[in-house]
Amino acid sequence: MLELFKTNKNHFIGVDFGTSSIKVVELSYTDQQTHLENYGFVDLNLPSHDNSIKPASLEQALNDSLKKLIIKMNARPAATYVSIPGFSGLVTIIELPDMPDDELTKAIQFEAHKYIPSALDEVAMSWEVIERKTNAPKLQEQESMMSKLKFKSESKNKTTGKIKVLLVAAPKKDIEHCDRLVSGSGLEVSAIELETFSIARSLVGDSTGTFLIVDVGSRATNIILVEKGVIQVNRNIDAGGDEITSAIADGMNISRARADVFKKGEKDMLNGNENAIIIPVLDLIVGELRRIIAAYKEKNNNSVIEALIISGGTSKMKGIEEFFNRSLGEKIQIGNPWRSIVVKAEVAPFVKEIGSSFSVALGLAMRGIDDYKRK
Ligand SMILES: Nc1ncnc2c1ncn2[C@@H]1O[C@H](COP(=O)(O)OP(=O)(O)OP(=O)(O)O)[C@@H](O)[C@H]1O
Ligand SMILES: [Mg+2]
Repeated sequence: MLELFKTNKNHFIGVDFGTSSIKVVELSYTDQQTHLENYGFVDLNLPSHDNSIKPASLEQALNDSLKKLIIKMNARPAATYVSIPGFSGLVTIIELPDMPDDELTKAIQFEAHKYIPSALDEVAMSWEVIERKTNAPKLQEQESMMSKLKFKSESKNKTTGKIKVLLVAAPKKDIEHCDRLVSGSGLEVSAIELETFSIARSLVGDSTGTFLIVDVGSRATNIILVEKGVIQVNRNIDAGGDEITSAIADGMNISRARADVFKKGEKDMLNGNENAIIIPVLDLIVGELRRIIAAYKEKNNNSVIEALIISGGTSKMKGIEEFFNRSLGEKIQIGNPWRSIVVKAEVAPFVKEIGSSFSVALGLAMRGIDDYKRK
């Protein structure tokens, strides 16, 4: 009898606290397929760069908004996965000479100092050897090591040569903040991960080949290079859709509200005469993409990048595919994180409209399914 009141074992919830909205998705896994059970979002209407909002009131506002959303969705209790923003953490590859595991732990902590400005005891860190002239692990293995971002040591045998280590770190205070945002909502947090992993999982998964993802959100842009299912490069840029709105408002001398309407309208503002207004914002992103593409090709004998995948709410902007194609000459795809999910016919049009703004939330719930399949 008691089973009835327990968490549904094959249901998983992903919660993305984006700057512009909280997105929640509930997935289930039955008959070897992933099904969309429920989804919801709430616009936050909080100015993303307003420093006058006290962190405590912001936390309270997010906590209250999530609670209301969960009640509205009538979400069932399920294992819940929550993201922390890409810009809060660090995902990087470091190359080291091969060495015994006990030395490796010390060497990695020493290296980590170069990348992490805060004291190491304030940071949750985990790492994994991804290349030792053996096969690299797939995203699932990266996921397991990311579990709650706790430090984990490696136990592989000594070999000679160079090794590549994937280092992941995030401030403990950001992880605790995330935990507090969910408290009181009735959701049971199973794991917290950097959204970089959630995005890569929902948009690329284990696909072979190399993909460059660019998730343009409201405040930030997260760029992720994934090769054979393994994250190789990650960069976060402090610019996104909000800044595009500001550029339109300033450039056309109109209110932000009107600028937002223009931005989301049918007129292509990226490839026509008006694009001079927006280009400076997008140039930050394009410049970083160019550097990543050039470095990848130089290191990998001009290997092909299968596609540049555009994600996040800003991917809906009219003409964005053409803009990135013109700027970079790469093959462009608009990301579709729903592609492997069974969706009821009546919700299909809504899901199409939501598109890749749910990449993070879906990737989080998919992690639950990956964990479930492995058990
Ligand atoms: N149709 C559209 N055309 C252009 N931009 C759009 C459209 N729909 C939404 N956006 C923009 O997408 C952004 C929101 O995207 P998203 O939901 O991915 O961001 P977020 O996750 O809340 O933010 P962040 O990831 O930066 O914290 C906003 O700037 C919004 O104005
Ligand atoms: Mg986002």
